[in-house]
Amino acid sequence: MYAALLARCAEDIDAGGVTRDVLAGHEDDPGPSALALRLAGSVHRLVLEGRAGELPSYYPSVGGRWEPEAGWRAFEALLGEAPDLVREWLDRPPQTNEVGRAGALFGGLLRVPDAARLPVRLLEIGSSGGLNLRADLFGYTDEAGRRWGDPRSPLVMEGAWRGRRLDPWPELDIVERLGSDLSPVDVTTPEGRLLLTAYVWPDQEVRLARLRAAFAIAEACPAEVRRTDARSFVDRLELVAGTLTVLWHSVMWQYLRHEDRDAIDARIEELGAAAGEDRPFAHLFLEPLRRTPDAEHQFLVVLQLWPTGERRVLGSSVGHGIPTTWE
Ligand SMILES: C[S@@+](CC[C@H](N)C(=O)[O-])C[C@H]1O[C@@H](n2cnc3c(N)ncnc32)[C@H](O)[C@@H]1O
Repeated sequence: MYAALLARCAEDIDAGGVTRDVLAGHEDDPGPSALALRLAGSVHRLVLEGRAGELPSYYPSVGGRWEPEAGWRAFEALLGEAPDLVREWLDRPPQTNEVGRAGALFGGLLRVPDAARLPVRLLEIGSSGGLNLRADLFGYTDEAGRRWGDPRSPLVMEGAWRGRRLDPWPELDIVERLGSDLSPVDVTTPEGRLLLTAYVWPDQEVRLARLRAAFAIAEACPAEVRRTDARSFVDRLELVAGTLTVLWHSVMWQYLRHEDRDAIDARIEELGAAAGEDRPFAHLFLEPLRRTPDAEHQFLVVLQLWPTGERRVLGSSVGHGIPTTWE
């Protein structure tokens, strides 16, 4: 849908149409600022709020049906009639919280060996809305149709896992859930939910359904997301006797400055050195990485666990976390 829509926007810019007027002043925005996604997200939020004229009829996220020609006409009409409303969100960075990535992170937790299976303190950097701090409250099925996670969860991610079978952890007890982000989103507010929904593509109905289901789960299970940068958050972490401290993250490492990555890595090593059998420490992440310097980037799930410090690639995934193939 966006491929068709944005191609029409590009033609409209070349033809000097309303898209060019709305985007005036942004001609030199750098590519990674994702201006097209800002525009699409701004319009989508107007659709979700019911402030977009005829456009909702073409947006599957609100029950409409995408039709390229009529959809473009309604999009163009909105840009012509409400350019200031559309411009309101052009300067804000797109923000997402992909619930599918909980499949990769939670599955990674099930690779923690018995010896380290203590009550879990779950700590996250780059949490966005902190939805994945509730990963144990979601449901997952593997390729054999077995169900994992919370058996009563209203959210079930079908076909989440392939490959090697994981080890159930029936006594898993998450005793602390704490996230952090430079721009945390409060998913218990309508504004926070609108923000995260607006940047999901309107015809990706599976992603939208799991996001909305996760919002409901988050209401019932609060988790704080602190407004702080990842480096300061990790600097202040300490291990606690009688618990497994898990520091996890997904698709956020690329946004860190090199010096902050190095500082976080150094602090993680320090925490690892302080770990013991009564206070193990796990660093678990889903990030785009190369297995070797010449290899292509892949979304890899990696676990490093102390006191041994053993580091393993557990499997590979995709950008949105479903499916993950365990090795
Ligand atoms: C692509 S989102 C991923 C969010 C979430 N981890 C997920 O997988 O859905 C990246 C997140 O990293 C946050 N972020 C970027 N730089 C950061 C930093 N230096 N410290 C903390 N969070 C940061 C952004 O605000 C954003 O919420």
